[in-house]
Amino acid sequence: MTTSRILNVELGTRSYQIRIGSGLLADAASYQALRGRRAMLLTDRHVADHHLAAVQTALRLADEQCLILEPGESEKSWDQAGRVLDWMLSARLGRDAALIALGGGVIGDLAGFCAAVYQRGIDFVQIPTTLLAQVDSSVGGKTAVNHERGKNLIGAFHQPIAVIADTQALSTLPPRELRAGLAEVIKYGLLADPIMFGWLEKNLDRILALEPQFVAETIERCCAIKARIVGLDERESVSGGPRALLNLGHTFGHAIETFSGYGEWLHGEAVATGMCMAADLSHRMGWIKAIELDRATRLLGRVGLPTLPPEGMQPADFHRIMGLDKKVKGGKLRLVLLRSIGEAVLSADFDEAALEATLDKFCGAGPGGAGPAHAFAVSV
Ligand code: NAD
Ligand code: GLY
Repeated sequence: MTTSRILNVELGTRSYQIRIGSGLLADAASYQALRGRRAMLLTDRHVADHHLAAVQTALRLADEQCLILEPGESEKSWDQAGRVLDWMLSARLGRDAALIALGGGVIGDLAGFCAAVYQRGIDFVQIPTTLLAQVDSSVGGKTAVNHERGKNLIGAFHQPIAVIADTQALSTLPPRELRAGLAEVIKYGLLADPIMFGWLEKNLDRILALEPQFVAETIERCCAIKARIVGLDERESVSGGPRALLNLGHTFGHAIETFSGYGEWLHGEAVATGMCMAADLSHRMGWIKAIELDRATRLLGRVGLPTLPPEGMQPADFHRIMGLDKKVKGGKLRLVLLRSIGEAVLSADFDEAALEATLDKFCGAGPGGAGPAHAFAVSV
């Protein structure tokens, strides 16, 4: 049996374990939560090429129990969900069966959504294969598909019965995807854990080199924070509970993704720049110190993540797009800001002039331009 670290997500009757280790995919013991039940598996072509055989062998899954989709965000659609549900119905999958998501956040969100609605909800297991999915999207039960009016607009909260994060799976991940996942990793240090942030500064090179112990520790530290926050605020209470803090950098980040057209910037890349902007605004508010702003920007830069918005993006573009973001409550924009490294707050009470100064600084203080008119709402 492979050695693994185990974390609990405490949600009463919906509690589950996150198992983290190297070589878990090929080890039948990893799949205890399924208890030998009938299962079907959803994955994408990139992941299937590298990792499907190991899972199929460990779980003795026949080819017809596995559906392989094309990679990419466009698969996370209402139409594709219909296709997956058709496939499950054709196989006469019963309510006692389970659906397995083997892949990144796209597969995890789609499979989770299908599991949530299939016969009013069946169990599902997350086997995340990107760093982003291992530290974020596979934990917490947010499932969704996109709609032409916006990303993640159709979805459900549906917790998995287990999460199995195999650090070895990351060895086949394209480096750009790994770096994008590291933005979410740094996010946890910034919003909740100054010690972890210092640990990342010290060990970044070993994590980038995918040293198994360091990768496993990274995932464990992030999932511990996410599990704690999800345990406090499972459904992200609309009045601004702690789960909203996980959106640090996301309001500016989504504006960047929307401006540049989805797919140009990876989500983690946009969040990296968004966190630099949130940190800059926090400093202007007199909250984080100059040295903390510098540490945040420097660490993201060391990963190779962008720390400035796309060329041509103007303050007016941020205004226009951020007005659509759901973090606008009662007409007032709410942003996740930093009081210090390791302490985030959701605030509608920021200084408008400070926000303008941040936007001017990051947009090179150019004239306000119209930019492409992407009216695209986002739900994270
Ligand atoms: P992704 O699922 O598109 O994966 C990125 C790319 O990496 C794809 O081409 C995929 O085929 C490939 N890939 C995945 N694992 C691989 C591996 N081990 N080896 C080789 N290639 C591999 O992207 P992502 O960044 O994992 O997830 C993004 C999605 O996650 C978005 O749809 C976003 O909305 C969602 N998300 C959800 C939550 C949540 O809480 N549910 C949180 C954050 C993001
Ligand atoms: N990724 C944000 C959340 O899960 O709430």
